[in-house]
Amino acid sequence: MSSSKVATEYDMATKKSKRLDRSKSRVLPLREYHNKILNYLISYFSEQTVDNVIDFGAGKGGSMFKYLYNKFKYMTLIDISKNSIKEAKNRYINNSKLQDINATFLVGDISSIYLQQKIKQEIYDIAVCNFVIHYLFSDKNTINNFVKNVYYSLKKGGLIIITTTDHETITDKEFRKTKYSEINFISNKESDYGEKYKFKLEDAVYDQAEYVVYRDVINDVFIDNGFELLEDHNLVFDNNLFKNELFNDIYRTMDDDMRDISGMYKYYVYRKM
Ligand SMILES: C[S@@+](CC[C@H](N)C(=O)[O-])C[C@H]1O[C@@H](n2cnc3c(N)ncnc32)[C@H](O)[C@@H]1O
Repeated sequence: MSSSKVATEYDMATKKSKRLDRSKSRVLPLREYHNKILNYLISYFSEQTVDNVIDFGAGKGGSMFKYLYNKFKYMTLIDISKNSIKEAKNRYINNSKLQDINATFLVGDISSIYLQQKIKQEIYDIAVCNFVIHYLFSDKNTINNFVKNVYYSLKKGGLIIITTTDHETITDKEFRKTKYSEINFISNKESDYGEKYKFKLEDAVYDQAEYVVYRDVINDVFIDNGFELLEDHNLVFDNNLFKNELFNDIYRTMDDDMRDISGMYKYYVYRKM
């Protein structure tokens, strides 16, 4: 799918979600669980003094409070959807607490090498890319450009925290339909890139085209571009990182279908060498 199509779809989704009362959504526990995991990963991997964070595919700025709680001083949020960035900016302007962090908001394509003309070079300690890169696996060039942009933005030793789909579960027929979600494969695996499916998730994703992210392939792209893999794991509850009281309560509020959806995702953490 072209980047401009993604932008149009997310511009429309942003309008739809404005009309939605998220606190009444049936999948609220799933959102809260994923939010908690991302917050935990950010604080876990930013133990040393870290000042600057860049969020690739930041959407409506859902992670801004995570950056505030983790005491970042400067954040850059980029998204291809101008409506999403506008909403993120409004949330920032209307919340005086958030303004403790200096911020830059950019409309831009994270898979275009020209993004480097808009972002600062080698000033970021941490990059975050939450539930985005499965849109970028349409072909090798697209994901490769994204990784080059990450490399350009991070300081040496800087980290990128990625959450995305887990190829092992996403390609498993058992996971194709839950009470809240549906996956319909459009193409078969012909190469490492471009294996396309449409995904729906109640109150969140409206039948959008995504691509399978194979572990070996993402690792190769990052390693070829000067990164090392620190760790990767499925978002399901069996990880020692998540086996603590922080997650027990919220995990209990999810039903089996929500737990299955969570199991369709994983995180990767890479370090710039
Ligand atoms: C599922 S949302 C996740 C948003 C945000 N990271 C979060 O966790 O709330 C995916 C986001 O990726 C953005 N996106 C997809 N392709 C992009 C691209 N090539 N460049 C920039 N943003 C992109 C979409 O516009 C959308 O806001």
